Amino acid sequence: MTSEKTLRAVLVGTGSVANSHAEAVAAYPHAELVAVADLSLAKAREFADRYGIVRAYADLDEMLAVEHPDVVLICTPPAPHREQALAAFAAGAHVIVEKPPAPSLDELDDMRAAAEAAGRQLAVVFQQRTGTAAAHVRGLLQGGALGRPLVAVCQTLWFRGPEYFAVPWRGRWETEGGGTTLGHGIHQIDLLAHLLGDWSSVQGRLWRLDRETETEDVSTATIVFEAGVVAQLITSAVSPRETSSIRIDTQKATITVDHVYGHGHENWRITPAPGFEDESAAWEFPDVEERSAHAPLLRDVFDALRDGAPLPPTADAPARSLEIVAGIYASAAADGAVVTPELLGAHPTHRAGFASPVTDLRR
Ligand SMILES: NC(=O)c1ccc[n+]([C@@H]2O[C@H](COP(=O)([O-])OP(=O)(O)OC[C@H]3O[C@@H](n4cnc5c(N)ncnc54)[C@H](O)[C@@H]3O)[C@@H](O)[C@H]2O)c1
Repeated sequence: MTSEKTLRAVLVGTGSVANSHAEAVAAYPHAELVAVADLSLAKAREFADRYGIVRAYADLDEMLAVEHPDVVLICTPPAPHREQALAAFAAGAHVIVEKPPAPSLDELDDMRAAAEAAGRQLAVVFQQRTGTAAAHVRGLLQGGALGRPLVAVCQTLWFRGPEYFAVPWRGRWETEGGGTTLGHGIHQIDLLAHLLGDWSSVQGRLWRLDRETETEDVSTATIVFEAGVVAQLITSAVSPRETSSIRIDTQKATITVDHVYGHGHENWRITPAPGFEDESAAWEFPDVEERSAHAPLLRDVFDALRDGAPLPPTADAPARSLEIVAGIYASAAADGAVVTPELLGAHPTHRAGFASPVTDLRR
């Protein structure tokens, strides 16, 4: 049974994604956003005023010392995630951290170890896992209703103009940790892995086609999943008609989801293979629909924290998709060689950061 406790939340990094967090907290009846912090106090103050939050800080440590929060929402760029999560755990708070949870596997390891040592939870925001459609399809796949999944296609074709990369922390290995694979493709890669489970190998290449970045603006990869699925990936930041899509062909059906930044039932389709039409009535989506978004993710995490329950599957396993992404970078650094979880686990360079050669095709 859920406790009556109201969670005291604070937020660090009052930029664009922070708005989704403030709205999600406001929509949840048993949590309150009591303070926010940003490197720029003026920005934090303006954000606080927008959402009726009383206190604003320029320093996370000061905010933690004064506020004693139950939960810290980390909405800063990836580089400070580790340091901020460790400070939050040291102050006895749980952490909900924006994707990517860290710019390296080593830093994520530190965050997970600190959470465990403090007896606190580290929840990650990959909101594409949420919504009733993804839960329904995951249940069908895990329950075997669609037969074995065989082949998948995962596309993140987005458009980010030159002005997007003009923000100083973007497009650089040192501050963003990676390019469009880590920044954008990871959403769909995460949903794909949420549906298909653990991976067994990755091969990848990085491309610079048009943007002035140090990192890649396009990547291509092949992932093999333990379930015996081969998936083809393309991630792009230079594609004017944007789409985010996943297709999974199983023994009995084709599952597709086509959307851009969020999905509801209308974005999903399950098409039966010849001979399985009669079974398809059992695959129908539930009558009640919830779209993918930050609000259901934070709601389910808050419920779990108030109950002392494990994190929901929509916010657990922070390393799963980051490892696949790390595998793509590690493979690109070895000219497209096959990278397995074992190789990645003992990798000489790519646990500490993803900087890798990018093939430049700009003309
Ligand atoms: N889940 C999603 O759909 C989604 C969407 C956009 C961004 N993101 C992620 O959210 C994070 C932030 O992205 P954004 O687009 O909101 O960035 P942003 O640049 O709009 O905002 C980041 C804010 O953090 C502040 N900041 C930077 N370093 C700080 C520090 N050390 N201490 C305190 N404040 C600091 C900046 O001043 C800025 O206000 C990134 O990890 C990004 O990948 C997720």
